[in-house]
Amino acid sequence: MKFFLDTANLGQIKEAASWGILDGVTTNPTLISKENVKFEELIKEITRIVPGPISVESVSTKAKDIVKEAESLAKMADNVVVKIPICVEGLKAIRELSQRGVQVNTTLIFSPLQALLAAKAGARYVSPFIGRLDDIAHPGMDLVEQTMIMFDNYGIETEVIVASIRHPLHVVEAGLIGADIVTVPFPVLEKLVKHPLTDIGMERFLKDWAKVKR
Ligand code: G3P
Repeated sequence: MKFFLDTANLGQIKEAASWGILDGVTTNPTLISKENVKFEELIKEITRIVPGPISVESVSTKAKDIVKEAESLAKMADNVVVKIPICVEGLKAIRELSQRGVQVNTTLIFSPLQALLAAKAGARYVSPFIGRLDDIAHPGMDLVEQTMIMFDNYGIETEVIVASIRHPLHVVEAGLIGADIVTVPFPVLEKLVKHPLTDIGMERFLKDWAKVKR
């Protein structure tokens, strides 16, 4: 499973990169608005810290504008992937961009059919938002499972990024389904490492080691 970090915070990205487990980063306009750094500088810095795919979202709404914006975002660095929300104009843009070699992550996916259409249009990644579905009492992980089955049925190579992750159990479930990628907020990533029995065990080993004659 590939691990992406869902943030635009440079401190968090540097820290997670130092753990040696970070494969990429996903951003969105909300995450970027929380950082007090100029947009282009911020994205270029992220692409320098993490060599893997860095998703940056287009905010245009018409296909020709999305294509133009996506091309300029993609020029920022070789590892920029352009995030495009699923909609008719988005599909037209995804087709055009994939033919021009620009990698697209289709975002705001809430149904397996949206994922299927994005893949058919040429998206490199699709991002089902599971937490936001859970929030309205729809099991978000069902969406990931159905999308994976459909992609598998037709040999579709588009990768599934499980997004809008709220807690470690989401990551466990994504792993059991066999999702390609999870994009996790930094506080969730920190929780994945922790276990109280590990802490207790380490403390006991250190205490006992202090008694050893050396
Ligand atoms: O990056 C997209 C997604 O992960 C957003 O998550 O928590 O705003 O639903 P959230």
